[in-house]
Amino acid sequence: MTTHKIALLAGDGIGPEIMAEAVKILKLVEQRHKVSFDLRPAPFGACAWFETGKSFPDESIAICDQADAILKGTIGLSHAESQKIPVDEQPERGALLPMRRRYDTFANFRPVYLPRSLAHFSPLRPEIIGQGIDLVIIRELVGGLYFGNKETGINDAGRRYVHETLEYDEDQIRRVLEIAFELAAKRKKVLHNVHKSNVLKSSVLWNEVLNEVHPNYPEVAVEHVLVDAAATYLCLNPTRFDVMVMENMFGDILSDQGGGILGSLGLMPSACVGPQKSYYEPSHGSAPDIAGQGIANPYSMLGSVAMMLEMSFNMAEEARNLWQAMQAVFVAGYTTPDLARRGEREKKISTAEFGDRVAAELQGMPTD
Ligand code: NAD
Ligand code: IPM
Ligand code: MN
Repeated sequence: MTTHKIALLAGDGIGPEIMAEAVKILKLVEQRHKVSFDLRPAPFGACAWFETGKSFPDESIAICDQADAILKGTIGLSHAESQKIPVDEQPERGALLPMRRRYDTFANFRPVYLPRSLAHFSPLRPEIIGQGIDLVIIRELVGGLYFGNKETGINDAGRRYVHETLEYDEDQIRRVLEIAFELAAKRKKVLHNVHKSNVLKSSVLWNEVLNEVHPNYPEVAVEHVLVDAAATYLCLNPTRFDVMVMENMFGDILSDQGGGILGSLGLMPSACVGPQKSYYEPSHGSAPDIAGQGIANPYSMLGSVAMMLEMSFNMAEEARNLWQAMQAVFVAGYTTPDLARRGEREKKISTAEFGDRVAAELQGMPTD
């Protein structure tokens, strides 16, 4: 029997609510396969800061260090609540970015996927999304503005100033491009390179490195798109894209737009892959506006579980089953309220009921 150690970082806001559904599914997967999951919950986020004075406490770091994979819910507070925590301790800067840096999780896979059977969830017209939306954003996750040098102070004119630098070296660019080319080679053999080389020198270097890497993947065609135009095309013609690659902050923004064209951020899972360790999390935040009501959409969290099964535990078949089970719940006409507003035919269900229904669908599927 194989045992996988998983650190569970439920986090803040809706994090614990959607994490409970992930645990439900992991327990079911254990029953269905010769596998056991050693689940290790650990405090992480604003909740950890209020409890221990650190948003990524040492005990949680130790649990993550020992884990084979990390499953994370969501962290962060509303803008007003965040002010209770010193700026550098706020969980985004105090926990999430340090975790990304610690495990060097440079390649962030953010699938933007809506099969035809669920196309009615999208705010886009049917003639625009055609057979559905199926693209993957590869976001560089440990460089750029997020991790560049930062400085604040008072300048010679007595004015407050800030410097925040967008930093990459060629190795950081090359490794994420290689991941993107590999994925493109396995899919439609087209890679959309999203950049801003008409202004940013960082994009000029990015594209130079891309031209060096491209010959190793001759079967893949590269299309260049400026990031501002890419935002428009995502709305007007998302089916032109298959694999998109971009630097950290472009990927942050465009992937949330990905959630927008699907109909809800609750449809956005992700995988954050590093050289040794990977972690899995929804792309969205802690949704303070709906936290505590039991109505968050757990699809993003369960999709992250599916990505973990496939990418960390070599369980691609069970991952496919889980995707199918989740989609079957929607196809049967059930959804959490975030998507119910998109059509009258849906029956609104809670986070827990969605998880129960996914579990029931999965239970009915054969194992290999
Ligand atoms: P958000 O992603 O939390 O919410 C944006 C909107 O999407 C809200 O209306 C919310 O209700 C909705 N939404 C998000 N996930 C949903 C789900 N699963 N089901 C149904 N609706 C969902 O963005 P925000 O409000 O700008 O940020 C809130 C906090 O989350 C901030 O503190 C931010 O820093 C943090 N954040 C954390 C992460 C992370 O943990 N990786 C990611 C993004 C934002
Ligand atoms: C995301 C989030 C994070 C980011 C924040 C919470 C640091 O928005 O994962 O998309 O900007 O990377
Ligand atoms: Mn984001």
